[in-house]
Amino acid sequence: MSESFTVVAELSGTMHTFSCRADQTVLAAAELAGVPLPSSCCSGVCTTCAAKLSEGTVDQSEAMGVKAELQAEGYALLCVSYPRSDLKLLAGQEDAVYELQFGQFQ
Ligand code: FES
Repeated sequence: MSESFTVVAELSGTMHTFSCRADQTVLAAAELAGVPLPSSCCSGVCTTCAAKLSEGTVDQSEAMGVKAELQAEGYALLCVSYPRSDLKLLAGQEDAVYELQFGQFQ
């Protein structure tokens, strides 16, 4: 049995709590729990599933769509994020990530 963590995800002002095993992506666990987090490609590229962690850490070594500086600030792509602790996060951060990665170069 893999270790299991508790995820508290805020989406559009609503808090959702579900559990997520260490070998399960946060997005997959949310889907199983019936929590409708945004997603599209499910392979770490498109950033639709971007979230900002306020507590906890994830392993997101396959997250291509978010650069390392943003990952260090707590941004994560939930479709390729495996929990390494209990998590608190704000989901639906695609626009924020886009702005942070590309906005400054325009
Ligand atoms: S759904 Fe595309 S990066 Fe996660």
